[in-house]
Amino acid sequence: MTRNRRFGLSGLAILLYQIGSVAFSVHFGYAYSRNHKVIPRAVLPLPDFHVSAADALHILYVFCIAHAAVFALLAFRCGANRFDEARRFTTEFLGMLVAFTFSSLYVYLATDISYDPQMMAATGVLLSAIFFATYALFRPRNLRPRRVGVPGAFVEGALGTLGRLFTPAGLLILAFFFTPLVMGKLFYSNRQFADMITHLRVVLSARADSDWVLVNAFGSQKFRQPMLAKQAPGGSGDLYVLEREGRLLRVPYPKGGEPTVLLDIHDKVGPAEIENGTLGFALHPEFGKAGAPHANDVYVYYTAVKDKTQINHLSRFDLGAGSPEAASNSEQSLLALEREASGFHNGGSVEFGPDGYLYVAFGEGLRIPKFKEPGEVLRGAILRIDVNETPGTTHPPAEPPKNGSAGHYTIPNDNPFVGQPGIREEYWALGLRNPYRFTFDPQTKLLWAGDVGSTVWEEVNVVEKGRNYQYPFIEGREKTDVPPPAQIFGEQRGPIYTYEHSAYDRAIIGGFVYRGGQWADLQGKYVFADNYSGKISVMPAVTTEVDKVDVITRANQFAQRGVSSLTQLGDGTVLVTVLGEAGNAAGEVMKLARGAEAVAVAKAEAAANAQTAETPYSAAATASLFTTNCARCHGEGGKGDGPDAAKLPVKLPDFTDPAFHAARSDEALATVITQGGAAVGRSAMMPPWSMVLQPAEMKHMVRYLRELGGRAAGAKQP
Ligand code: HEC
Repeated sequence: MTRNRRFGLSGLAILLYQIGSVAFSVHFGYAYSRNHKVIPRAVLPLPDFHVSAADALHILYVFCIAHAAVFALLAFRCGANRFDEARRFTTEFLGMLVAFTFSSLYVYLATDISYDPQMMAATGVLLSAIFFATYALFRPRNLRPRRVGVPGAFVEGALGTLGRLFTPAGLLILAFFFTPLVMGKLFYSNRQFADMITHLRVVLSARADSDWVLVNAFGSQKFRQPMLAKQAPGGSGDLYVLEREGRLLRVPYPKGGEPTVLLDIHDKVGPAEIENGTLGFALHPEFGKAGAPHANDVYVYYTAVKDKTQINHLSRFDLGAGSPEAASNSEQSLLALEREASGFHNGGSVEFGPDGYLYVAFGEGLRIPKFKEPGEVLRGAILRIDVNETPGTTHPPAEPPKNGSAGHYTIPNDNPFVGQPGIREEYWALGLRNPYRFTFDPQTKLLWAGDVGSTVWEEVNVVEKGRNYQYPFIEGREKTDVPPPAQIFGEQRGPIYTYEHSAYDRAIIGGFVYRGGQWADLQGKYVFADNYSGKISVMPAVTTEVDKVDVITRANQFAQRGVSSLTQLGDGTVLVTVLGEAGNAAGEVMKLARGAEAVAVAKAEAAANAQTAETPYSAAATASLFTTNCARCHGEGGKGDGPDAAKLPVKLPDFTDPAFHAARSDEALATVITQGGAAVGRSAMMPPWSMVLQPAEMKHMVRYLRELGGRAAGAKQP
């Protein structure tokens, strides 16, 4: 009988060894399952999952705690397991099965972690192998009539375990062990089951709402698609607000009120669609200093679209010229680069660095295949130039880029690629895709950029001199199918933080490292947003990899109308510009606020906005909303054949099918659109849209779907 075996120090050591084995197995099970399939598709056809490293760590904790509890209980009941006695070993192994199943059920049901059966299987196989191997090593030879060796011990252990499984307790354990697998299978074959699980997960993993909100920085003032708001260098006084169509405004701050138009270049910009428009601006460090040569200079980055050609401009304007038109006419072009007219990935930020040089973000969209890069064109990079054209420490570019013109700037002699053949000297760092927004941390002087990714990954990068951020051959931390170029300029560097696209998260808006005095818990944190989901996130501003961020609040408008920039003012106020609908003054300069009072203000503003947002139905406008938000899954024509449809576990409905419409009331359609599939007992893969669309737009969407089905909204049910 093993019951009275002393636990003692060696028992404790073995217990720790077992828990260590659990941690080891979860860790390597995770690493292995990222690249390999343990359960073949033929056995269990499951989609691919991505478990983040932070989630894997969470899983590791859960597993260690559950196993420690079960092993300790068994040691208390049956004495220490020393891996040297068959019966005691099989008891321990069965205990492990219970702990293992319990942990994976917990992760599956009570957290918001992607549950990856492949990872669980890899972990289970590893852990079992370690247990059996240990038993094979410690099994005392003298107890056995024949030497059976290590393989024999494996067989003995396995037979012992199997034998015990066919007892009533064993059968129970076996049934329990298979529940996660059966549930995983059901999840992908039975919609009702999947919905039930999704509900359970949402309820069990819900976190308390944060008390951070965004409120209009001026009470109720609106702008036409505000792109960026800044104070003059020095960080006090009025706000300078850039509107996408081409106006730069000065607005009294903090009281708000009638803006002064300083610059209007809308005729140069042309239609500001897709990612085009007036994207960024920087006031010269001498701005506002009476008598200084650059006291009125602003540097603006804008895209100019005319007759299907697109030129991306970096220009200087003189805000002291007397009128917005005169300021527009004072344009001096620094860079004018032609690109193919797709409108995507232009970059956008322009900032003066702590060294007084101008840093400019160009997106990778400037590719023109006939030119060699990076020697002949400037793209996918942060550039560093001297707009003061300082003699001695800087020099003029040898020739303009092949796809455009250059002027009114020089290149600092200490730029990283000066004198290097095959790459233009303006490059400060390259290998970026669309470094749309960047800022300098006033304390560490580091340049923090949000790099908008292609189909999968968004990145936060600390962009350093002469580094290569690996696009297009690596995105996030993953290789793409683009082979690396023959010559990679600059030392390669990966992102600090990277997040995967989801139904909502798809375009990072880089922010800043918070150094204001208002909120101690934001101190030293990097604050950024996602344009599409409106999430405002914070993470430690460290230069090593970060796995997890905290989402503190959401903007009130999303996607094409969502967040366009984040700024911190001299007094520590955090501003967030939100675009709003094109063609209207529906955008806002918001500020971060906190507490019950701020929450009440935000709610009142949301209610007021909802009232003014009631616009009459337009089939064309709603079709365009459908294309933007729904076509990915439902297909352009609503037949259920969008590019993402194949990846979904359920069949999508055909909105052109009259039978679909006959079976559903307007209310039912409105509910599923507003609250998502899970709310009406359908697949949670149909996301809720109440956060993205205005109430009126959701009503319009019902009418639009009805029209696709050849039926008027409000028709009587059969
Ligand atoms: C990420 C993919 C995805 C996107 C994007 C999406 N849907 Fe869906 N939608 C689904 C899935 C999956 C279903 C099927 C749900 C089911 O039958 O369980 C569905 C079902 C529906 C249904 C039918 C529900 C019913 O009663 O059968 C409506 C209506 C609908 N979606 C409207 C929309 C609208 C409007 C949009 C855009 C604003 C949209 N969906 C965007 C995935 C998506």
